[in-house]
Amino acid sequence: MDALITVLPGDGIGPDVARAGRSVLARIAERHGHHFTFSEQHIGGIAIDETGDPLPADSIASCKESDAVLLGAVGGPKWSAPDAKVRPEQGLLALRRTLEVFANLRPVKIFPELASASPLKPGILEGVDMIVVRELTGGIYFGEKTRSEDSASDLCTYSRHEVERIVRVAAKLAAGRRGKLCSVDKANVLETSRLWRSVTDALMAQEYSDIELETLLVDAAAMHLLSRPADFDVIVTENMFGDILTDEASMLAGSLGMLPSASLGSTHRGLYEPIHGSAPDIAGKGIANPCGTIASAALLLRYSLALDEEAKAVEAAIEAVIRGGLRTADIADSAKAATTEEFTQAVLEQLS
Ligand code: IPM
Ligand code: MG
Repeated sequence: MDALITVLPGDGIGPDVARAGRSVLARIAERHGHHFTFSEQHIGGIAIDETGDPLPADSIASCKESDAVLLGAVGGPKWSAPDAKVRPEQGLLALRRTLEVFANLRPVKIFPELASASPLKPGILEGVDMIVVRELTGGIYFGEKTRSEDSASDLCTYSRHEVERIVRVAAKLAAGRRGKLCSVDKANVLETSRLWRSVTDALMAQEYSDIELETLLVDAAAMHLLSRPADFDVIVTENMFGDILTDEASMLAGSLGMLPSASLGSTHRGLYEPIHGSAPDIAGKGIANPCGTIASAALLLRYSLALDEEAKAVEAAIEAVIRGGLRTADIADSAKAATTEEFTQAVLEQLS
């Protein structure tokens, strides 16, 4: 098949991991007889430096024309002063909004070989296999913001429509898995959460009565994720809770560098990015873990290009390399660790 893919490397370790993801996609095209055209564009801090805008018009145009977008990471100390007028993260939020990718799927898969990289006891990790569905284009991230010398505010708003469409995505996923959905909110305190809960309860009773629905407050969910992670199948939650809980959940997999994500809307076009940030502390060292981005490339093949066999091939390649013992520094037991490039080459070899 022919596909146009925009690559947005971004900042910090973003370019390193984006290069890894792109080379895996190129290898897949070569091995499976597809023709992928890549358009590389700026986003984030580097885009601010080049154009003054964290999401330049050229980048938007390329993404909109594309079948899928692969993103590295945005942000860094250079652009993060508390009084900065324009921030790299604004580019990412604007992109998610512009592409209307409201459903952010964050699968948490455990490789048994990496159990020692997780701070949790191996017994607790057994059988962990969940997807967190994070609402991505609403909530406190996008509400009106005010700031004066002595006070500040961030407005959190959700509509029935926004809750219904994300819960439907999560329920459909659960129906194809273990049939369990956990909705996470803070309904004992927040009005948006009370709307979230009543809309979810009603929709699930009406449309998905065969799915087992559990409801947790976000503070309890943060604890249950560590005490009984294997119980979760699909978790659905609002934007900020999903951001926080998935960084927590990444430690089940051993490292923030392991988790991929797919952001989907109502068309086939999706945005694919690892859940980690730009990691300024290791930027430019060539040691970032590319697993989250390579696994995101697999999700791109599956969800935007409907190439499930190719997606499975990429996932199997990552698994084989991990099983073979190669480790980047974040998941290594010993001082001897692979570079981003070495790990990526090993994945590419598996694919040939
Ligand atoms: C993520 C990141 C972003 C978010 C930042 C970089 C704006 O933490 O994708 O999880 O908060 O959504
Ligand atoms: Mg995050």
